[in-house]
Amino acid sequence: MRETVGVVGVGWVGLVTAACFASRGHDVWAMDVDEAKVAELSSGEVTFHEPGLAELVTEHARRLHFTSDMDEVLANSRLLFCCVDTPPTYSGDADLSRVMTVVERLPDDAEHALVMKSTVPSGTGSSIRREMPGLAYVSCPEFLKEGSAVADFLNPDRVVIGADPGDEWAADAVTALYEPLGGEIVRTDVSSAEMIKLASNAFLATKISFINEIANVCEEVGADVTEVARGMGLDERIGGSFLKAGIGYGGSCFPKDVSALKQLAGNSGYHFQLLNSVIEVNELQKRRVIGKLTKHLGSLVGKRIALLGLAFKPNTDDMREASSLVLSARLQGEGAEVVGYDPVAKDAASGLLPSIEFASSPGEALAGADGAILVTEWSEFADLDWPALAAEMTSAVIVDGRNFLDPERMRAAGFAYEGVGR
Ligand code: UGA
Repeated sequence: MRETVGVVGVGWVGLVTAACFASRGHDVWAMDVDEAKVAELSSGEVTFHEPGLAELVTEHARRLHFTSDMDEVLANSRLLFCCVDTPPTYSGDADLSRVMTVVERLPDDAEHALVMKSTVPSGTGSSIRREMPGLAYVSCPEFLKEGSAVADFLNPDRVVIGADPGDEWAADAVTALYEPLGGEIVRTDVSSAEMIKLASNAFLATKISFINEIANVCEEVGADVTEVARGMGLDERIGGSFLKAGIGYGGSCFPKDVSALKQLAGNSGYHFQLLNSVIEVNELQKRRVIGKLTKHLGSLVGKRIALLGLAFKPNTDDMREASSLVLSARLQGEGAEVVGYDPVAKDAASGLLPSIEFASSPGEALAGADGAILVTEWSEFADLDWPALAAEMTSAVIVDGRNFLDPERMRAAGFAYEGVGR
């Protein structure tokens, strides 16, 4: 018989985990304290944007049991995947209160295992293990990317499974769940598994800040960073991914995990210098866009600036740590009027950006604008009728914050075009 899976916390990670395991033929008992969410999911409603997820939930509804009753989950499954969020506290440490609430509700018995998907600082597993010596503990960090989470889950590069002596049965059971998906299984201890997650995200963020600094130097010397990244990326020791220069990384993971690793190091007395710079470069990168606008427009007081894309990256409506938040605040601080357009994130953005105007199409955002910033590289922006849009603007200035558009084509369409590092 196939292993039944328990999932605690059906946010983004929890729901992707539940739906994907269900699609592989497992019965899944997914629990959340939010009863309204449980009711929505039970009726097949998925309220956030993640390609392919709503379809999986509908298709495998028969195997997906949503509940707010932990006892029901415990009665039906021995593996409990903890998928609650660990947002940053004011100090930059990870807030573990939701994880601890889950732990408090679990029995300290030998029949169940807690499988930690939530991103937690190194050392969390051993402290939970001390508190609950009976319960088995497995660290199985999440490497999904928003916008391609379902595909990432079903075709992983690697799956990290960390367990300490005594808990091998649980690590074996988790391995058996993931093995059919392919991808290398990395069996290790709990502490190393926790570090693999934080170090991976911090390294990817470092790659982005690195290429962003190279882009800034390219602007000084007249080189093109997209060519530089292409040439660098072909060295397989470097690799071509995560070398796209732009206005910096955002989202719910990189900013939080880089600062959590920095804090974790600091708490144990180690000053992680490199990560300080990674964070600072990322902050400054968003602000450089303003200079590119003023170069063409002079003072921004009273100017109308359009933001194309508001979500932190395409194919998601997630606004957490989105560059658009800092940009709109900076633009308004300079006295500009801001109008924003995003194909899916409008609802998520409206509460966070109460003082900007929202347009319902790129054309509406650009009409009468003095300048535009491409913030999120939604594919629809590639195929716009740019010559017609340029004609509708008061002055056709565009800062392409993701190096997404073709500079020559944009110039031919009548734009003063500024990219990042090209
Ligand atoms: C990231 C990691 O890629 C996942 O492996 C990890 O599981 C996840 O965090 C997490 O910890 O939960 P995600 O935040 O969804 O995933 O998004 P990414 O696609 O990694 O992009 C992050 C940010 O970096 C975006 O703002 C993106 O625009 C930016 N980015 C990415 C660049 O500026 N340049 C690049 O070359 C790549």
